Amino acid sequence: MRILLTGADGQVGQALGLVLAARHTLLLTSHTSLDISDYRSVEEVVRARPDLVIHPAAFTHVDGCALDPDKAYRVNGLGTRHMALACQRLDIPLVYLSTNEVFDGTATTPYHEWDLPHPINPYASSKWAGEQFVQQLCQKFYIVRIAWVFGGAHNFVQTVLRLADERPMLAVVQDEIGNPTYAPDLAAAVGALIQEPAYGIYHFVNEGYCSRFEFAHEILRLAGKAIDVQPITLAEYKRASTPPPFTPLRNFVGAIDLGITLRPWQEALATYLMTLAAVRRA
Ligand SMILES: NC(=O)c1ccc[n+]([C@@H]2O[C@H](COP(=O)([O-])OP(=O)(O)OC[C@H]3O[C@@H](n4cnc5c(N)ncnc54)[C@H](OP(=O)(O)O)[C@@H]3O)[C@@H](O)[C@H]2O)c1
Repeated sequence: MRILLTGADGQVGQALGLVLAARHTLLLTSHTSLDISDYRSVEEVVRARPDLVIHPAAFTHVDGCALDPDKAYRVNGLGTRHMALACQRLDIPLVYLSTNEVFDGTATTPYHEWDLPHPINPYASSKWAGEQFVQQLCQKFYIVRIAWVFGGAHNFVQTVLRLADERPMLAVVQDEIGNPTYAPDLAAAVGALIQEPAYGIYHFVNEGYCSRFEFAHEILRLAGKAIDVQPITLAEYKRASTPPPFTPLRNFVGAIDLGITLRPWQEALATYLMTLAAVRRA
């Protein structure tokens, strides 16, 4: 297939580009080559004549979205509307990457694909706006909700490793719970998904869930760094955005209907840390 990929320079975009290049012709676009927040991007995508659009591009700085909600709605809401309009015009499927944060975090068990979103911060509201545009405008769509992605240059794993080298002690939130998810595993799952015309909503995350505190512990244990980690609460960690506290996703639809599953997050994390170590040695 001829696949147009938005945000190809981002963490998820890069992983998708690597996985999909083996089977497909990729039209890689970046913020500079295709600004999705500009209405003219509809025409640009139509002109490129792809068979499918995969759309991870977004304003992903969660605190930045809280400080500038209009920008969040312009990029994540309208930007997605533009990609949906282009796919509507071409009558092709759209894959939209969305987030665990569309849920309010008041559940006590992981969220299913059919649970009702109720975003509680501007980043989440803007991504939910994107989901609604996709559902209103596209006949053929895959909404793939993901969470806590690691695999690129900027993510929680890299931050914990860096701070462990800079500080004598780390304070990490213990009451925010989610699914750490390895970008290459997610990309492989999306690659399998687009082979099937099984349109709808999916939750693709690595198996299992944990708190940020437990995630940091496992990162440091696997990396062999002995450093004190203290648990703190979300209330103690002052930031512009309010994260929903409990947002693990359950991959129910993809696993049962299509047999698409992602391995446990601890295994994926070990693979990522081995990759980082190999890159450092090279
Ligand atoms: N990372 C996570 O933990 C996580 C969790 C849940 C859901 N998601 C979703 O997964 C998707 C990918 O996330 P990611 O981690 O890969 O984010 P990322 O690394 O921040 O990548 C996002 C990309 O979008 C580009 N972009 C921003 N504004 C744009 C615009 N107006 N036009 C075109 N491109 C634009 C960015 O380019 P510049 O940097 O040059 O602006 C960047 O390359 C996003 O939709 C996000 O909401 C991510």
